[in-house]
Amino acid sequence: MLSQTMEKALNEQVNWELYSSYFYLSMSSYFESISLAGCANWMRVQAQEELFHAMKIYDYINERGGRAILAAIAQPPSEWKEPLNVFEEVLSHEQKVTSLINNLVNLALDERDHATNNFLQWFVAEQVEEEASASAVLEKFRLIGSDKSGLFSIDLELAKRVFNPPTK
Ligand code: FEO
Repeated sequence: MLSQTMEKALNEQVNWELYSSYFYLSMSSYFESISLAGCANWMRVQAQEELFHAMKIYDYINERGGRAILAAIAQPPSEWKEPLNVFEEVLSHEQKVTSLINNLVNLALDERDHATNNFLQWFVAEQVEEEASASAVLEKFRLIGSDKSGLFSIDLELAKRVFNPPTK
């Protein structure tokens, strides 16, 4: 059984993950609008991953006898100056999510809730990957600067990303 504090904190994380999905979907739409279909695809896959994260926590709350309560999702931004800014925001958003996951782990440890701590370790590992993949794309955008052919190459590369739901 989850404590009320933990249940509330996990529900807040569900909302963050749903917001993350909205955030990346909005970025996907922005990229569609400037004809960067590969970047739009990368963001769409990212939005799917975030929905998966939200559902993973939602299921866990219910599994532990809690109740997943769905709160309003904040409106994400819809305009960016250029692709580089978008990926800067992706990385800072993921860094923020990492800190939120760390806070949840701290709470689980404070409460000696070993099951939730164990559950959250999946997210700890996932955040390492999330930050690394955002950082890798951002570095490419920084490298190409204003080179249009470089932008075209990155877009082709990002078009290859597919959503593979994790199996464990
Ligand atoms: Fe669900 Fe990208 O963190």
